[in-house]
Amino acid sequence: MSTTLTNPVQLTDAELKLLQTLVYQECGMYFDERRTHFLRDRLQRRLKACQMDSFYSYYRLLTSREGKQELSSLLENLTVNETSFFRIRPQLELFQKVILEQILHRKQERRDWSIRVWSAGCSTGQEPYSLAILICDALAYYYLRNPLPFDMPTPKPLIPPPWKIEIVASDINYSALLAAQQGTYTEPHMEAVDYTCRLRYFDKVGDKYAIKPALRNLVQFDFHNLKTEFLPKHNDVIFCRNVMIYFDAPTQRKVLERIHAVMKPKSLLFVGHSENFTESKDLFRLRGKTIYERV
Ligand SMILES: C[S@@+](CC[C@H](N)C(=O)[O-])C[C@H]1O[C@@H](n2cnc3c(N)ncnc32)[C@H](O)[C@@H]1O
Repeated sequence: MSTTLTNPVQLTDAELKLLQTLVYQECGMYFDERRTHFLRDRLQRRLKACQMDSFYSYYRLLTSREGKQELSSLLENLTVNETSFFRIRPQLELFQKVILEQILHRKQERRDWSIRVWSAGCSTGQEPYSLAILICDALAYYYLRNPLPFDMPTPKPLIPPPWKIEIVASDINYSALLAAQQGTYTEPHMEAVDYTCRLRYFDKVGDKYAIKPALRNLVQFDFHNLKTEFLPKHNDVIFCRNVMIYFDAPTQRKVLERIHAVMKPKSLLFVGHSENFTESKDLFRLRGKTIYERV
């Protein structure tokens, strides 16, 4: 069965359908006619990497117990991991200047000092680290105006006591999560990061920028499949941006229901620019073009 393959192996319509359905069932990504070319290409690559010469055998491998690792590799090859620091800046500014301010104020009144934010579909980490930076800066400024009678340890921590910030970041792509956990970025990744931010939150390591350990420790990375796994609970805010765009409508609905179930009442869901979930009125009320409030 194992050969050195030069020509692409023929992928029949029936095999394509089997594999398309498997991918859909596993992670919700739906490859319609416009995107089957991409799916075919990635399947050919994986078949070659596995040195196999039949897509049916490959399908059998993927659905076997021994094939779990290969299934992860295939999904990693199919996900689109495009991301950047401070992506959709106006939305993040609204989050920092208005939403966070409201949350901090409301929480302080209740003497509830903990905030939990979830970056669902975090890719290589730029989104959760951007959120961590925005939260640290917002909290420092809020604390300046609303100091609390607690001893401030030295050196001064990023999060002033008694506040507790938890940022959970998850993805289905292990390689992306590994890179996120490492938190090391090259100059082109840093385009949207200004120099004050670089000075405060990054160390220069060779020609790269590494997230400072104190900031990295605020983010907890975890593998999660939005379609099937148990999701992190009790979130004050969820960012799930440019993830559901690859799902079909029934999967979007299912994932929205699951997300709704792990949100606190009136908490907010931030989505990407080209995502629209206004049909799920029973779950979410629109608060801004890309911001939904849990009903
Ligand atoms: C285009 S990136 C978006 C990254 C980031 N949220 C942003 O907007 O910059 C989409 C991410 O969603 C992840 N993803 C796709 N399907 C997923 C699923 N079923 N469960 C969890 N993550 C998924 C992909 O691995 C990828 O890293």
